[in-house]
Amino acid sequence: TTMKYQFPENFWWGSASSATQSEGAAFDGGKGDNIWDLWYQEQPNRFFNNVSATKASTFYQNYQTDIALMKEIGHNTFRTSFSWSRLIPTGRGEVNQEAVAFYGKVIDELIANDIEPFICLFHFDMPVAMQELGGWESREVVEAYADFADVCFKLYGDRVKHWFTFNEPIVPVEGGYLYDFHYPNVVDFKRAATVAFNTMLAHAEAVKRYRAQQLDGQIGIILNLTPSYPRSQNTADVKAANIADLLFNRSFLDPSVKGEYPQELIAFLQEHDQMPACQEGDLATIAAGNVDLLGVNYYQPRRIQAKLHTVNTDGPFLPEWFFDYYEMPGRKMNPHRGWEIYEQGVYDILTNLRENYGNIPCYISENGMGVEGEEKFIENGQVKDDYRIDFIKGHLTWLHKAVQEGANCKGYHLWTFIDNWSWANAYKNRYGFYRLDLETQTRTVKRSGEWFAQASKANGFD
Ligand code: BG6
Repeated sequence: TTMKYQFPENFWWGSASSATQSEGAAFDGGKGDNIWDLWYQEQPNRFFNNVSATKASTFYQNYQTDIALMKEIGHNTFRTSFSWSRLIPTGRGEVNQEAVAFYGKVIDELIANDIEPFICLFHFDMPVAMQELGGWESREVVEAYADFADVCFKLYGDRVKHWFTFNEPIVPVEGGYLYDFHYPNVVDFKRAATVAFNTMLAHAEAVKRYRAQQLDGQIGIILNLTPSYPRSQNTADVKAANIADLLFNRSFLDPSVKGEYPQELIAFLQEHDQMPACQEGDLATIAAGNVDLLGVNYYQPRRIQAKLHTVNTDGPFLPEWFFDYYEMPGRKMNPHRGWEIYEQGVYDILTNLRENYGNIPCYISENGMGVEGEEKFIENGQVKDDYRIDFIKGHLTWLHKAVQEGANCKGYHLWTFIDNWSWANAYKNRYGFYRLDLETQTRTVKRSGEWFAQASKANGFD
C-alpha cells in the first residue's frame, strides 16, 4: 500500500549523535583531553547543573545495546563522529590502538545490524594539544587534522561509505570567537573569520586526501543552514537578511558546494577590514574541496530586519552591526529552547539547493526538538512526546513536497538517538527517541521512537 507521504526507495531513516555527546569515558581508553574537558576543569559553572561530558550516555561501554535499540526503531543509517583526541590523543603523532579497536567494533556492529554508518570527523571537540597550538587559527592544526582524516580513511574507508569532514563548522566560529558559548570564549570578528577560513581549508585538505585514496564512497560536510527571511521586501530589510545569509550560511555553503566564496562576502569583509590571511594556493585548495554529499542540519530560521537604531561602534565588530532580529508575530515557538518552529524552512532550503546549488545530493542530517523537563510527559513509564511526532511529521511533509518537485534529498536524521549531553547545555533540553535515566543509564523508548519505527518500515506515513 502507498502512504500519503511515501518516500523514495532506500530513503535514509535514522538519527545523529556525536562522540563527545554520547561516549562518556572522557578520561578512559587512552583518550586525550579535548577543549570540553579543559573548559569544564576551568569553569564548571558554565555547564548546566555543572554536568560534564563524563556523564554522556556510555556509548563507549554500551554501543552494542544501543545499536540494537537503533535497529528496533527502524534505523537504516546512523551518524556519529570520531573523537580526534580519542584516536590521536595529542592531535598528531601516535594513534591510540584502543580507540582504533573501539571504532572498528562500532562500525562492524552497525553494519551487522544493517545500519549504514555515517561518520563525521569533527564535531566541536578540538584536542587540547591542538588548541594550545592556536586551534583553527593555526595552519599546523589544519595539517594535523588532514593527517588525522587520512588515518581514519585508511583504517575504516573500506567499510564506511559516507564521510563528513565537519559538523556545523560555523558553530565553533560563533561559539568560540563571537558569542562566548564555546572555548576559547574569544570575541573577535577577525579571528573568527580566520577560524572559518582555516576550517574550510582543513575540510578541503581532507577531501583531497579522501579522493587520493580512491575509495568507494562519498565525502561531504554537514552544515546548519538557517534560512534568512527579511521582515519585508523593503530594500533595507532585504539587504540586512542578505548579510545574515552571507555570513551564517553562504560562508560555508558556497565553498563546500561550488568551490568558491561569494564575491559579495569577500567585498563585505574587505570593506570592513575583516579579511582572513590567505596564502598562495589556498583558493585552489578550497576549489578542490567541493563535496559529493551535503548534510543539512535545520532547526530554525532567522527573521531579520534592517537595524532600527544606529550601532555603538565602540564595542567589538559583530554581525549584529548590520541587522536586527525580528520576532515575527504569531510565529510558532519551541518555548523550551527558545527556537522558532518553521517546518517550511526545510522546503525552502532544499529548493534553494535544487535551484542554486546544482541540486547537490543531500539529506537532513539533523532536525529535532529539545524539551526541558520532559519527565512531565511520562505516563506509564513512557514519555508521550506527541509534540515531537508532530514536529517530525511537519518537517517530513515539507521534505516530501520538495522531493516531489525534484529536490535531491536522500534521508532524514533526527537529533538525536538517546537524550544526550549537549555541551554547555548538558541535559537541559532532551532530544532523543529514547529517554535516558541519568541515575541508572536506563534507556526507554519514547512514543516518537515507536512512531519512527513504523514510518521507517512503511517508508512513509499518512
Ligand atoms: C546542533 C549540534 O547544533 O544542535 C548538536 O550539532 C547539538 O551537537 C544540537 O546537541 C542541539 O543543541 P542544544 O544546545 O539545544 O542542546
